[in-house]
Amino acid sequence: MPLIQSESKDMISRVGRIKTGVGGLDDLISGGLPKDTITLISGPPGSGKTILCCQFLYKGIEEGDKCLFLTLDKKIEGLLSQTQELGLDFQPAIEKGQIKFLHLNMSKKLVYETMANEILSGDYERIVLDSITPLSEMPIYINNLDLVKDLSIIDSEETSTDGTYPIRRLHLHYIMNALQTAKCTSLVTSELPSGSPHMSRDGLSEFLVDGVIVMSLDPTMDRRKLAVMKMRNTKHTLKPQDIEIGKGGITII
Ligand SMILES: Nc1ncnc2c1ncn2[C@@H]1O[C@H](COP(=O)(O)OP(=O)(O)OP(=O)(O)O)[C@@H](O)[C@H]1O
Ligand SMILES: [Mg+2]
Repeated sequence: MPLIQSESKDMISRVGRIKTGVGGLDDLISGGLPKDTITLISGPPGSGKTILCCQFLYKGIEEGDKCLFLTLDKKIEGLLSQTQELGLDFQPAIEKGQIKFLHLNMSKKLVYETMANEILSGDYERIVLDSITPLSEMPIYINNLDLVKDLSIIDSEETSTDGTYPIRRLHLHYIMNALQTAKCTSLVTSELPSGSPHMSRDGLSEFLVDGVIVMSLDPTMDRRKLAVMKMRNTKHTLKPQDIEIGKGGITII
């Protein structure tokens, strides 16, 4: 009996850990994110989702990892000047080709294909997708429901008008699949209105990922918080932790 216990303990400790770069967070999750997993970072606007993702990639650069930042809604220049302000200067790593920042235009056709190609062909160790919300809201129209094996992913409130079915959340499955296949450790962000009963805007992402970190704001108390709500292979507290944003990014206080 004791043998089995120590073996299972050993199995847990053998899960590779990827450091987040966020001061104090790794201590809450057994040393870091489980390697080759997807973690959702959700929270309202201004809660620090993008900053946390940038810290994760900055740490990756320090550790010699090849990194990718995919963004669907922000221009790269603005993002880089915000991170520089925080003391995270990505320019040398961009020039060395160790990190790539890619802005994808949602109005272009084949946006999903471009993204999946980059994820699958780049040999990246760390990937950020900021944010998944526009992608989850973009419908794919199909005219043959037999093509969709899992009918539960069809948005049931939408009716077929011209014989086609808008499937709103299919991209989400595709992109999570690409991230899983790529064998990298990734973060995806989702906007979350305050008081939402879900952990992501689409209400589905939290079920497709291995970990969920929820960021929140408490304006009355002038406080920011971060809570680990789910993390595969990891014993962790659910208690929201006070955080602050300053030089270097987010720190748990
Ligand atoms: N240099 C800085 N020093 C201290 N705090 C900062 C600094 N830069 C940004 N912040 C804080 O971080 C917030 C922005 O964080 P971030 O961009 O990560 O939020 P977000 O959750 O990604 O928001 P959105 O959903 O709008 O993309 C700002 O609103 C500000 O409160
Ligand atoms: Mg952001």
